[in-house]
Amino acid sequence: MLKLDCRHLKNFIASHEYSTIKSQIERAHKFLHSEESFCDNIGWVELPRNYDVLEFNKIIEVAKKIQKDSDILVVVGIGGSYIGARAAIEFLKSDLYNNLPKNTPDIYFVGNSASASSLSDVLELCKDKRISLNVISKSGTTTEPAIAFSVFKEFMEKRYGKKDACSRIYCTTDIEDGDLKSIANENGYETFAIPRNVGGRFSVLTAVGLLPIAVSGANISELMRGASIAHDNLLDEDLEKNHCYKYAAIRNILYRKSKQIEVMAFFEPRFSFLGKWIEQLFGESEGKDHKGIFPTSMIFSTDLHSMGQFIQDGSKNIFETMLFIDHVGKDITVNDNDQIKSLDFLKGKTMSWINKKVFESTAIAHSDGFVPTLILHAKDAFETTLGYIFYFLEKACAISSLVMGVNPFDQPGVESYKKNMFALLGKAGYESRKEILIKKLNKC
Ligand code: PA5
Repeated sequence: MLKLDCRHLKNFIASHEYSTIKSQIERAHKFLHSEESFCDNIGWVELPRNYDVLEFNKIIEVAKKIQKDSDILVVVGIGGSYIGARAAIEFLKSDLYNNLPKNTPDIYFVGNSASASSLSDVLELCKDKRISLNVISKSGTTTEPAIAFSVFKEFMEKRYGKKDACSRIYCTTDIEDGDLKSIANENGYETFAIPRNVGGRFSVLTAVGLLPIAVSGANISELMRGASIAHDNLLDEDLEKNHCYKYAAIRNILYRKSKQIEVMAFFEPRFSFLGKWIEQLFGESEGKDHKGIFPTSMIFSTDLHSMGQFIQDGSKNIFETMLFIDHVGKDITVNDNDQIKSLDFLKGKTMSWINKKVFESTAIAHSDGFVPTLILHAKDAFETTLGYIFYFLEKACAISSLVMGVNPFDQPGVESYKKNMFALLGKAGYESRKEILIKKLNKC
């Protein structure tokens, strides 16, 4: 369903380099699959085959209710608590999902910044509309979504009254801990549990991602089926048979050759949030202990006319992974236009064919420009394929991080900014940290 094509890599990696890294990949595989694994963050590995069916059915039911009783679903969350859902909705529907005619609610994502202006805009859009709210936070304590939630809770209580607002607010959080869980209990909100052993950026296939995705009308059963196929297909330790492990191996081989930046390139604007999801997945998992490949994502042709120059001709510390999908949906044929002579040679050609030529020419140009270029290739952009892509990349990320010698499942860097913010905002318990920070700020 997702194939790794290494035809442009021959000049960059010799076959013996795969043999050298093979044993490290096998060790990483055992870490993820051993029943005695001491790691308590690998619930996502078996998730596609072992999810809570009752919870899944409840997601489908609630999504139907929201579709019926709401014009807008507001999703409150940050990082792993929103990017996956947005990536899936745009990938499966459109990056213009909210603007296109449809019979499902508009979906807005808030609480992912501390911007009052952006939150006010969404409040404005919600005026006179029927609203539901899905607030998502695993810890239940993250500041930005907590603020957005409190603003929207007030907005909805004013609009509907406390009791009716309650039937339109859905909380996705830890099964028993955290402020959000306590608020949900006190108010009687419907809740969905984020499994304890699934970390934020690995949680798109839990209620975190599934509820908003289902509200958009996408088929979440097919999404899970795709992930389950990936689970079964990606168990072989043999690099030649397991494209996910081969991708993880290649990333590490290139990293050891000072390729420190990975450009994930897509050829469809509606995949741009999948790019954001990949940036977060790999960036937060791998970027620690002063190690890691810096992940960035681009949309071609758009970025060929901005960053293309640098990739082709700039510093040689970049490698590129292109995700190309054959059939993405609608197509347009270039018509017979007497006035635009410069398009004569394209008459009758489809834009999807032309886009494929953009991809092929760019892959050759960049690898000729000494940029190792990998291709991930899929046939269609339906739910099953996306489920496969999510799982493939989660596993590639975990294996790649383990081979690099970092713990993929923590995010100490994110925690330190969160704690500094609590201190500077005056939260109780952070007084001594605040004193140190104020001294540092005064020195600057
Ligand atoms: O991957 C992660 O763990 C993080 O990106 C979290 O998802 C993000 O910090 C949001 O955390 P929370 O869901 O606890 O509000």
